[in-house]
Amino acid sequence: MSANTAQTVIHNYFRNPTPGYGFECIYSVSPATKVTESVSTQELYADLAHSGMVVYRDFGDGLQEFNDFVSAHSSKVTFDPARTASTANTAEINAGLLEMGLHRENGNLPFNPDLQWFYCLEEARVGSETTMCDGQRVLFDLSPATRRLFENNRIKYARRIPWANVRRFLSVELQLPFEQITDEHLQQVNDMVEGQTYRRIDQNLIYTELKTSAIVRSCFSKRLSFCNSMLGPSVNYEPPRITWENGEDIAMDIWDEIKDVTARNTYDHFWKKGDIVVIDNSRVMHGRRKLEDTGRRIFGAQSYRLEGAL
Ligand SMILES: [Fe+2]
Repeated sequence: MSANTAQTVIHNYFRNPTPGYGFECIYSVSPATKVTESVSTQELYADLAHSGMVVYRDFGDGLQEFNDFVSAHSSKVTFDPARTASTANTAEINAGLLEMGLHRENGNLPFNPDLQWFYCLEEARVGSETTMCDGQRVLFDLSPATRRLFENNRIKYARRIPWANVRRFLSVELQLPFEQITDEHLQQVNDMVEGQTYRRIDQNLIYTELKTSAIVRSCFSKRLSFCNSMLGPSVNYEPPRITWENGEDIAMDIWDEIKDVTARNTYDHFWKKGDIVVIDNSRVMHGRRKLEDTGRRIFGAQSYRLEGAL
């Protein structure tokens, strides 16, 4: 093509990655453009493989369109059983006012969604940022000794969960009606998921432990990542006891190093109304700063990816 015929291609949206963190941030030129109509599964997954997290800003999608967007790019949609459903696939997040530590969604449960989704219906005037931390960077940033410790040793999450919550969780994950979930399904999951043990304590409580690696391979980038729920919150449940697989305490200086390294790799996302955020839950951990404006309304969804779309 000669210089005379060359034309500037007009795009409906443009990229502006978050400085210093490299998360993908895609801005629409006009609110008439919708994410639902503009982004293919292949594009979304390629962005996730590259950056681990994508923000879509200034697009015109409403809550129902967000719901459709989640469906269009997922094989199965699940949500946190402790929340109430708001649309078919999404739930309003109501996790108290306190700061919430970084975590992999359901990282201490036997099934972890591939994708975590957020939609901002009402933004906060101050504070209340969602935090995100790329576990690929954290793994690179850990001291060689600590990295080796986690490469060679699994960790253990142990705690007690009310039977009703376990039932709700398994009913979603196993896609069975709530009333049909029995103790046989506890055994089924124990057999199915290596490292998971459910044990009944009484009619109300279930003891659960999960032995798993703190380092996982991203299902999008295929690279190793320090991605887990070691620093995670337990707003709705009893906090887990987190140790090495053999029950030994993880030394204080290791905890301190994890807190330091994750803190310096943590990006604060200050929400704008209409923002859609998609996170690779096998790579990027998320959390939240203290909720300083209770008018903020964020919806979330969790799902599994479509196989073969990358
Ligand atoms: Fe979460």
